[in-house]
Amino acid sequence: MRKHLFLLLLISLLFNCKETTKESKTTINNRGLITENAMVVSARKEASKIGSNIMAKGGNAFDAMMATELALAVSYPYAGNLGGGGFLVYRLANGEVGALDYREKAPLAATKDMYLDEEGNVIKGKSTVGPLAIGIPGTIAGIFKAQERFGNLDVKTILQLVIDLANNGFVVTKNQENRFKSYDSIFRVINGKKILFNKDLKENDKVFNFALAETLTRIATNGRDEFYKGETAKKLVTFLQEKGSIITLEDLTKYEAKWRQPIQFMYDDLTITSMSPPSSGGICLNQIMTMIEDFDLAGSGHNSLKTIQVLVEAEKRAYADRSYYLGDPDFVEIPTETLTSSVYLENRMKDFSFNQATPVDSISHGQIIGYESDETTHYSIVDQFGNAIAVTTTLNGGYGSKLYADDLGFFLNNEMDDFSSKPGEPNYYGLIGAEANSIAPEKRMLSSMTPTIVEKDGELLMTVGTPGGSTIITSVLQTILNVHEFKMTMQDAVNAPRFHNQWLPDEIRMEPNSFDKTLIKQLEAKGYIINESRSPIIGIVDGILKLENGKLEGGADKRGDDTAVGF
Ligand code: DON
Repeated sequence: MRKHLFLLLLISLLFNCKETTKESKTTINNRGLITENAMVVSARKEASKIGSNIMAKGGNAFDAMMATELALAVSYPYAGNLGGGGFLVYRLANGEVGALDYREKAPLAATKDMYLDEEGNVIKGKSTVGPLAIGIPGTIAGIFKAQERFGNLDVKTILQLVIDLANNGFVVTKNQENRFKSYDSIFRVINGKKILFNKDLKENDKVFNFALAETLTRIATNGRDEFYKGETAKKLVTFLQEKGSIITLEDLTKYEAKWRQPIQFMYDDLTITSMSPPSSGGICLNQIMTMIEDFDLAGSGHNSLKTIQVLVEAEKRAYADRSYYLGDPDFVEIPTETLTSSVYLENRMKDFSFNQATPVDSISHGQIIGYESDETTHYSIVDQFGNAIAVTTTLNGGYGSKLYADDLGFFLNNEMDDFSSKPGEPNYYGLIGAEANSIAPEKRMLSSMTPTIVEKDGELLMTVGTPGGSTIITSVLQTILNVHEFKMTMQDAVNAPRFHNQWLPDEIRMEPNSFDKTLIKQLEAKGYIINESRSPIIGIVDGILKLENGKLEGGADKRGDDTAVGF
């Protein structure tokens, strides 16, 4: 009798375990936060709240952008920034779309070979940590340019909420505690001392950044030029030059954010607007989506063998083109029209077969290898007037160059590493580039950031984006397909397991323990190499979906501390 009871218990335990695993793999119909009018989804609750409060005060998406971006600089120093740059894609309520490039630029004194030794070899670390890794920051120029043109509120009102956050402190999350601990030694090496963000900080502690509050107060009083020409600029340059940087006051004075024509294309009945060069995001997304458009993905199923094959093969071809053709459009001629034409792309997919993986060496041009984690940050905003924005901003690596301007309260980027230091030589993340992305004074380094807005039948459908370096493009792609082809909610689309291929290395990177073992075996049988151990996650996607009833659904990625707030 006892033996029987034990067996029953065992069977029921096994049965329950199986059910749990099954449920966690196929969660469907999770809805994110629903609001009637307006929403911000960002990497931190504090930043989403401040952005939403600004809209509740009558501000629009561009006012909220300024507030959210700066609140991230306070509460998410890992990627939120004053010392970095980014890209904005917008769609106004009247349907007009546009893009703003506030990407960093190479200093005037930068040279093509600045990271090479006398023998022409790349000097390890020179473009990734410390003073020489820093590009001219674009964030303050960007948020002021957008807000000046489209915003409703005055800058002081917007900045006051952020200044209060810096003075009153933000709460450390578990993820942040872990990061402060693991970066502590490199912070000490680069800065020569313990900095505000250090290993003593624990979850739920408060961090007060009075230096940043003062910097922001000066910016609130004197405007954009405070950062590029004023006291802040002078302090910054003095600090940087003491540390050995080549950045001068002239570099800051000359910096301008630029309006760009975004990349726009159709996929089925969707109109997709995404970031143009110097980001590769829009062109690559356009190429991939055009190459996959004629395949019946919905019929094949989400993350099915066939769907993965189609996406991977299109991705391979797009990333091969990226490495050769793309760079700063102010410096290089980019054949955008050809690269995105259906004739060219049809031809690119001609040798694709479901029977076998296309060998990477039969796909031409340059080489690109990238392993980036989630050190950038994306936020999406829709306001109560019907304007939508998608913004991705970064210091490049986590905490950028790790150089922290103590008196000013912010980190400086290491965006120079996004240039190709030497043709064929991988950068910190393994990316290999060509002449199009070589270093030149005042040139912008190539990016993968893909802030994107999707319309359906002439109406806003979605605003979306993510960090993740080279995986950004494919994460945005999968999220759009999850909603459009596989009819997921915004939250499910964000939650769904992701995979990534970028031509080289010759592998499909998958989120660990998220894909069926049989499926993996089937892919391997066709010649694909699967890598589940590159990193625990791919991307941290934040998006907002406009539902058929006109309400907004937020998709805040729980791979991070991301949160949707709205009303
Ligand atoms: O602009 C780019 O493509 C890179 N600097 C982005 C870096 C990034 O996403 C790092 N985090 N994953």
